[in-house]
Amino acid sequence: MRIDILTLFPNMFDGFLSESIIKRAIEKKIVEVNIINFRDYSCDPHHKVDDTPYGGGSGMVLTPQPIMDAVDSLKTDNSKVILLTPDGKKYNQKDAYSLAQEKHLIIICGHYEGFDERIRSIVDLEISIGDYVLTGGELPSMIISDTVIRLLDGVIDKESHLNDSFNNNLLDYPTYTKPRVYRGLEVPSVLLNGNHKEIEEYRKEEALKRTREKRPDLLDRN
Ligand code: ADE
Repeated sequence: MRIDILTLFPNMFDGFLSESIIKRAIEKKIVEVNIINFRDYSCDPHHKVDDTPYGGGSGMVLTPQPIMDAVDSLKTDNSKVILLTPDGKKYNQKDAYSLAQEKHLIIICGHYEGFDERIRSIVDLEISIGDYVLTGGELPSMIISDTVIRLLDGVIDKESHLNDSFNNNLLDYPTYTKPRVYRGLEVPSVLLNGNHKEIEEYRKEEALKRTREKRPDLLDRN
């Protein structure tokens, strides 16, 4: 898979791309991630990318030309163009699975007070990561890329994401490691008895119990 991220702040991605699972996925060539400064596409003599809003109002608005030209130059028949915006569709794990099937994502990070409405005309999908407003789309683009990359074949053990929270609209079951007793808190004995059928049943029940307690809204989706 290839992911092209259009941003005005490429340095924000340094840590994200150079650590842990994402770093390894890139090294193994399972994913190629390109961070593209769309200022480089500006036709303005001073590489301007924003201007005052028509009709008045506060702040600066991203102009359509640099972003639309950047997308034109990167787009192929297999590309999905995503715009990150608080008024997009609220993102969830199902969306992550669906995006993980794509060959090429082009992700546009908005910034400042907003972007020219005409940018929406070249976009396939508008995504919000939640009902709050960030200073820009950079963090959301990392969140989307992270959720997608970890699902690609060969990035992490398949087993480990089959049991992820939100699969089948259930939260994950509780897990424990050594020591068996810590600060008087014991690991449930069922996990120690080696009976795999019993362990599986216990985990199913715990996942359901946890979902009922913490996120009953997920159960209504089944
Ligand atoms: N840009 C600013 N806030 C955002 C959000 N909640 N989701 C996606 N992009 C954003």
